[in-house]
Amino acid sequence: MIQGIILDLDGVICDTAKFHFEAWKRLAEDYGYSLTEADNEALKGVSRVDSLKFILQKANTTLSSDQFEIDLVRKNQWYLELVQEMDSSFLLDGVADFFEKAISLNIPLALGSASKNANLVLEKVGLLNKFNAIVDANLVVNGKPHPETFLKAAELIQIAPENCMVFEDSASGVQAAVSGKMFVVGIGTQNDLPLANYCIPNLGAFDFNTL
Ligand code: BG6
Ligand code: MG
Repeated sequence: MIQGIILDLDGVICDTAKFHFEAWKRLAEDYGYSLTEADNEALKGVSRVDSLKFILQKANTTLSSDQFEIDLVRKNQWYLELVQEMDSSFLLDGVADFFEKAISLNIPLALGSASKNANLVLEKVGLLNKFNAIVDANLVVNGKPHPETFLKAAELIQIAPENCMVFEDSASGVQAAVSGKMFVVGIGTQNDLPLANYCIPNLGAFDFNTL
């Protein structure tokens, strides 16, 4: 029985996946590599450090450890420039209604995000005070696909993992939730997220009667 809901942020709540892509694409150009849509799909849910490692491998290049750190900061600065422009209009379809419904049903809500910018983004879109718990990349040792992010979120809302439903748009996040023994609703297509229990295009398509 589902008693708690855990939501990913980028690509589930707001349209920030495209900002991450834009900023990584800009950085990858410095390495002479043109980031593809398939790369973008693979990078969803992946931590900042692991994303840069992935891109360097694709570009067949390496960086000194100092330059690696500098480039992480450059990417994040470009990303934050895009985030500065955000407001509630950047919420994906049906998100506001989803929150209203979940809160009216008294279902505990947690965030389980791989981003270190989660609090800022939630503040920008006006949802920061809607969560019972927020777990982001600052709070965990092991990023997705490791289940730690979601297990910690479940622990904070005091719901057993098997009674939690996770909403995720990334393959690594779906894997993390499956490893945590949670029920996973994919945001996207079953083709991109084959391990999800089922997929819907956005939170607006979720039917609370199925809980
Ligand atoms: C995830 C995104 O939510 O967070 C990834 O899907 C991103 O694309 C990752 O790289 C880390 O985000 P940040 O904000 O800490 O650089
Ligand atoms: Mg995501």
